[in-house]
Amino acid sequence: MYKSEQLAQHLKQLIENKTWKAHEKLPSLRQQVERSGFSLITVMNAYQELEAQGLIYSKEKSGYFVAENQHDSAEKHVAINHKIEINSIVFKYLKSIQSEQIIPLGSAFPNSQLLYSAKLIQTLGQLAKQRRSYEQTPSLPPGNYELRKIIAQRYAMQGIPTDPSDIVITSGGLDALNLSLQAMTQSGDYILLQQTLFYGAWQAAERLGLKVITIPEHPVDGIDLEAFEQAILNYPIKVCLMMLNSQNPIGFTVSDEIKLRLAKILHRHQIHLIEDDVYEELYYGNKKPLSMKYFDQQNLILHCSSFSKTLGAGFRVGWVYAGKYSENIQHIQLMSTLSVNSFIQNALVEYLSHRHYEKHLKTLRSTLQRLKKQYFNYLNTHLPTQCTVDYYPSGYFLWIELPEYLDSTLIYQRLLEKKISVAPNILFNATMQNKNHIRINCSFEINTRIQTALEHLIEDLQQQIDLHLEQHE
Ligand SMILES: Cc1ncc(COP(=O)(O)O)c(C=O)c1O
Repeated sequence: MYKSEQLAQHLKQLIENKTWKAHEKLPSLRQQVERSGFSLITVMNAYQELEAQGLIYSKEKSGYFVAENQHDSAEKHVAINHKIEINSIVFKYLKSIQSEQIIPLGSAFPNSQLLYSAKLIQTLGQLAKQRRSYEQTPSLPPGNYELRKIIAQRYAMQGIPTDPSDIVITSGGLDALNLSLQAMTQSGDYILLQQTLFYGAWQAAERLGLKVITIPEHPVDGIDLEAFEQAILNYPIKVCLMMLNSQNPIGFTVSDEIKLRLAKILHRHQIHLIEDDVYEELYYGNKKPLSMKYFDQQNLILHCSSFSKTLGAGFRVGWVYAGKYSENIQHIQLMSTLSVNSFIQNALVEYLSHRHYEKHLKTLRSTLQRLKKQYFNYLNTHLPTQCTVDYYPSGYFLWIELPEYLDSTLIYQRLLEKKISVAPNILFNATMQNKNHIRINCSFEINTRIQTALEHLIEDLQQQIDLHLEQHE
């Protein structure tokens, strides 16, 4: 830690302990130099750091003053969870919606009709006849060299210089997240998650016995950077795990400006981030959103992704850009899954070496865009006025906010009796702070089956709202 950071942390504690109250003057720079024994430049840097965090403010020719309640306002949004228990909830939920009879509005997977590209299936068929394509040895950790080379080239195309040795092929994105988290933590460590986040992250925390600090979503920026920095300053966080692009379940993509600011905070405090970017290819515009990895100058970010949302989760192929953590991750992999299916890796090399993937992605993106817009227009028109649905231009999820008095778990249970699935809050927030949201999968054409399911959902919400209003008149 730099001296200025040490001093800033010390002063911050004094502010927190109310040694100085709001709007009280801090010792002048010169006084602080005398008191602390640090140089003027160190003291200036510390004061500027506190100012950047909004803890103090400066007045021309008067000096520095303590800001009002800045700390308290961010701190109250940061939550600590010592024991995570979500796995059995997720397990029961996934079992309950597995049958083909259930209308999959609650599914996390994109409609399989849009994936499993015909060219890839053809490649698989051709390779299946070649004995050498099954050999496992070339695919042992860190995975097929050619596949890693292609993935490295794709990073380079986005301005992220990458060597194949930075990449470890994993059994899907979830394996990439789990391996990364396991490599970076020990039981009892603190990690930081977004308050509402893909259940796999919470399950990994539960499995590894980690304590979770959460920060709330920011209504405009997606990430509350103030709360983020407060959490980092207040807890010994080992690593953060977040989604910045097409966030699951909410759907937002964080702007480049906020990503850059986030990267600066990570660098300032030397905090690692595991970036879950499995929806990175499902953007709608002309330009692919940058990953956080792009802004990483110091190899603090492990970038996890997979082919599950673009080619099919059934292939179970993902990867982590692990950089210097590659070796460590491979050790864990050797002890657990050994390696990813070599046959599939070979087929992906063949498929990705041509332009097939780009063409497939183009069609996939435009189909998802069309469908999501249709679902949004329908829901926005027909949902009770007390409900809101935001439209974010990527991916295939819509996140519906219900009135606070409605419990989305009960809605999920009632609809399941009608063989309709929706994904309730409880799956994405082990702290169960909010219960009034549901996630809808929009990757299925709106045929009569889906239309009926949406009508049932709307009807159920309207009935519950009417009931509540009646009881509270
Ligand atoms: C945000 C997020 N991360 C990771 C995964 C897991 O991806 P994979 O199927 O590649 O393991 C999912 C799957 O739903 C997801 O939504």
